[in-house]
Amino acid sequence: MDYELLEAQLRELLSGESSHLANAANFAAFIYHEIPEVSWAGFYYADETGELVLGPFQGRPACTRLPKGRGVCGTAFAQGVTLVVDDVDAFPNHIACDAAARSELVVPLAASKPYGVFDVDSTRLARFSAEDRDGIERLVHVFIHSVAPPPRQT
Ligand code: SME
Repeated sequence: MDYELLEAQLRELLSGESSHLANAANFAAFIYHEIPEVSWAGFYYADETGELVLGPFQGRPACTRLPKGRGVCGTAFAQGVTLVVDDVDAFPNHIACDAAARSELVVPLAASKPYGVFDVDSTRLARFSAEDRDGIERLVHVFIHSVAPPPRQT
């Protein structure tokens, strides 16, 4: 996957727009359509209790709220690190929004403080390599630096 090319295309897509919501919606669509074998891509934003609330996404309808510290998303948010899960069925507390999802990559979002996660799912086991992790992290960082954090969601 040519992540350098994707990064250049993404910068073009996000440039000139300061709305967090508009850029988040386009970012989710960009990842979903440009990266092969992605079945779901989207945002969850933390509310004041630490619960993660669904934001802009592409793919099938998903769980609207993920309890604090649970699932791949809640764990990545709590730890502030990107998580790659090769087999979601083997991840303790995985939250199965889509029974067809087999592997998952979650990147935490932070500006001055953590505010959410970006979640990518695939129906293929072990879809996300170290190259994909680094590449998608870079794309998420381009997004984060293109906009201010979102207004409070809930
Ligand atoms: N599987 C995620 C929940 C979100 S959906 O995949 C869209 C998790 O365990 O956090």
